[in-house]
Amino acid sequence: MQLSGKRVLVTGASQGIGAEAAFRFAAHGAHVHLVARSAELLDQQVKRIIEFGGSATAHVADLADAVQIRALAEEVSAPDVLVNNAGVGRWLFLDDTSADELQTMTSVPYLAALLLTREYLGAMRSRGSGWIVNVNSPVSRLPIPGCVGYQSSRWALRGLTASLRLDLRGTGVGISEVVPGKVSSEYFNNNPGAEERIPAIARMIPTVTPQRCAKAIVDAVEKERAEHLFPWQLKAFEISGRLFPGLTSYLTWKTGTHR
Ligand SMILES: NC(=O)c1ccc[n+]([C@@H]2O[C@H](COP(=O)([O-])OP(=O)(O)OC[C@H]3O[C@@H](n4cnc5c(N)ncnc54)[C@H](OP(=O)(O)O)[C@@H]3O)[C@@H](O)[C@H]2O)c1
Repeated sequence: MQLSGKRVLVTGASQGIGAEAAFRFAAHGAHVHLVARSAELLDQQVKRIIEFGGSATAHVADLADAVQIRALAEEVSAPDVLVNNAGVGRWLFLDDTSADELQTMTSVPYLAALLLTREYLGAMRSRGSGWIVNVNSPVSRLPIPGCVGYQSSRWALRGLTASLRLDLRGTGVGISEVVPGKVSSEYFNNNPGAEERIPAIARMIPTVTPQRCAKAIVDAVEKERAEHLFPWQLKAFEISGRLFPGLTSYLTWKTGTHR
C-alpha cells in the first residue's frame, strides 16, 4: 500500500516502537493517530511529528478497557492502516502472577488488538482496502521458561493474525505480523524482571533499535508482507525451532530461568 495521504492509527505510540513507527508513517506522508494512556508523552510525539512537517493527532485511551476501545472507535473512524503495537507484561511463573496482572497482560496486547480490529474491520471490508499490522514478540515462536501469562497472550496474538488472514483473503484488506528480537526501547524498564529471563542462548541474537522496528512495520505495509521476523539470527533460531523442536526447546529451557 502506498502511504501518502492515508490515515494510520498506531497503538502504544507514546514511546518506543510505536512512537518511532508513527514518526515514520508521518514521514511517508500519512496522517497518524497516536494512541496510548500517557497524554503528555503522546503530545510530545505529536509535536515532534508536526515540527518535522508531518500530520498527527493524539488520542488518550487505556486499551485494557473495552469501553475505552469503543469510545476510541467512535472518535477515530476506520483508518487505512491499523498498527496493534501496544503491549505490556512482566515475565513471571504462572503461580507468581496475580490474577489482575494476568488480566492486564492478556488485555494488552491480545484483547486490545482483537477488539480494536473488530471495530474497524467492517469499514475496511466495505471499502475493499486496508492493512493491519500486529507487532509480536519472539516468545510467540520460541517459548521460554518462567513467562506463562505474557507468552500465552503473544501466542493468542499470533493466532488472531493467522486466523484473520484466512478470512481476509480476496477482500482487499491485508494483515502483517512484525516480530523483532530484543529492542532497545524502555520495555524492560517498564516491565521489570523480564530482561533477566531471556535465556542465555537467545542473548546471541543482537538487539535492534525502535527505529529499525519502525522501518520493518512501514515496509510490511508498503510491501504487503505477511510476516517479518528480524534480525536474521532470530529467524535462524525460529527455523531451528521448527526443524529441531526438541533440541531447541531443551537448550532454551537449559539456559533459561529456573526456580
Ligand atoms: N522491547 C522489546 O524487546 C520487544 C521485542 C519484541 C516485541 N515487543 C513488543 O512491541 C510492542 C511495543 O514495545 P516497546 O518495546 O515499544 O515497549 P514500551 O516502550 O514499553 O512501549 C509500550 C507502549 O504501549 C503502550 N501501552 C501499554 N499499555 C497500554 C494500555 N493499557 N493502553 C494503551 N497503551 C498502552 C505504552 O503507552 P502508555 O504507557 O502511555 O499507555 C507504550 O506506548 C509491545 O507489544 C512489545 O511487547 C517488544
